[in-house]
Amino acid sequence: MEDLTPDPTTLDPVETASRDDIAAIQLDRLKWSLRHAYDNAPFYKARFDAAGVHPDDLRELSDLAKFPFTTKQDLRDTYPFGMFAIPREELVRIHASSGTTGKPTVVGYTRRDIDNWADLIARSIRASGGRPGDICHVSYGYGLFTGGLGAHYGAERLGCTVVPISGGMTERQVTLIEDFKPRIIMVTPSYMLSILDEFRRRGMDPRENSLQVGIFGAEPWTNQMRQEIEQVFDMHAVDIYGLSEIMGPGVANECVETKDGLHIWEDHFLPEIIDPETGEVLPDGEMGELVFTTLTKEGLPMVRYRTRDLTRLLPGTARSVRRMEKITGRSDDMIILRGVNVFPTQIEEQILKIASLAPHFQIELQTGANRMDSMTVHCECLPDAADPASRDAAAKDLAHRIKSVVGVSSTITIHDPDGVARSEGKARRVVDNRPKER
Ligand code: DLL
Repeated sequence: MEDLTPDPTTLDPVETASRDDIAAIQLDRLKWSLRHAYDNAPFYKARFDAAGVHPDDLRELSDLAKFPFTTKQDLRDTYPFGMFAIPREELVRIHASSGTTGKPTVVGYTRRDIDNWADLIARSIRASGGRPGDICHVSYGYGLFTGGLGAHYGAERLGCTVVPISGGMTERQVTLIEDFKPRIIMVTPSYMLSILDEFRRRGMDPRENSLQVGIFGAEPWTNQMRQEIEQVFDMHAVDIYGLSEIMGPGVANECVETKDGLHIWEDHFLPEIIDPETGEVLPDGEMGELVFTTLTKEGLPMVRYRTRDLTRLLPGTARSVRRMEKITGRSDDMIILRGVNVFPTQIEEQILKIASLAPHFQIELQTGANRMDSMTVHCECLPDAADPASRDAAAKDLAHRIKSVVGVSSTITIHDPDGVARSEGKARRVVDNRPKER
């Protein structure tokens, strides 16, 4: 693979600024953001007043710990527009996420918010190895989901030629990749695997296509998956992170030259790591729940928003802003199975170690007649390993690996090729059939 390290003269100044300069920008902007939230969003005024804090109490960055957290529930409680800090008429865009339960969470952007977002996606694409003039194939879903339009505006901002194909119609995705010859693809890693299946179905060698950079995010994926994708496609696979409540994609992005975790665009988002049980702020380097405060957002400022994503903060490498480690899971998609914590990414890691298995999988949880919970891992064999003996060996191997590495017993069901449900966006990794009330 080609070395795609960007020319340093094309970076934004903050990407190479000193830590002191970054902290100074953050403090200035944080003061503005707290003041803006307090003065213009009645929700925050009530919250801060109830907690006995005022924007003037923030003198240094660490004073942020005095301020209350914000959660997804707050957005639901104020559905649809109750947390905005700008009159609705001044918002130019709404996005929403469906979520698994209850009302969707609605987010809104001013023109300047959209402009900053485009800048940050452009920065992210450049960090991933993209350049002005590249063709960028955007397979993230367009619509209320932030993936498609977020990627789109940023790719245009960088100066790319955007192919706004959105998710789905996998055959057409492959045809357009073949015909238009994009250098960049932006897509969920699970949907990239469906695109790979289509390459193979057509007898095409996936290493022989024009793609050089894949910018994958919106769901957890492992370094094993990176290796697999890089190897089969002969392309760089880079991680992009974000969430609608904070902006959308482009809150943090890996650098193609290091691929060692995601650099957080700290001039717009202030990260903290907290103990998810106590809410206490943890020092850099410790694992915990990621919390973000927006520094420039006008439409929907977020103060100490609890993402539920688990990671840790690390010093910058390819850039001076800090990194977050690749996200291995969310506190709410962690499975607790007979007392053992299990993340779907741990299962993915083990599946990818078995050569006869395809990378698609789904985890099903059920409660037996004895009221004991159990886990079935549904995966599928590759076409050349579909005989009963190979399947049996793969099932035994996987059950053994999951037991010894993750620490739980599981039942493995090996389906025929194409037997596991495919996603066209975020994969649904866990189907929980356990009774809700017990
Ligand atoms: O998924 C925004 C996005 C679109 C990010 C496209 C990257 C690419 P939401 O639908 O609000 O927004 O979901 C946000 O998805 O809290 C994480 O749990 C998960 N997530 C997003 N990116 C990653 C990633 C978009 N790179 C939620 N690795 C977040 C792991 C991710 N999880």
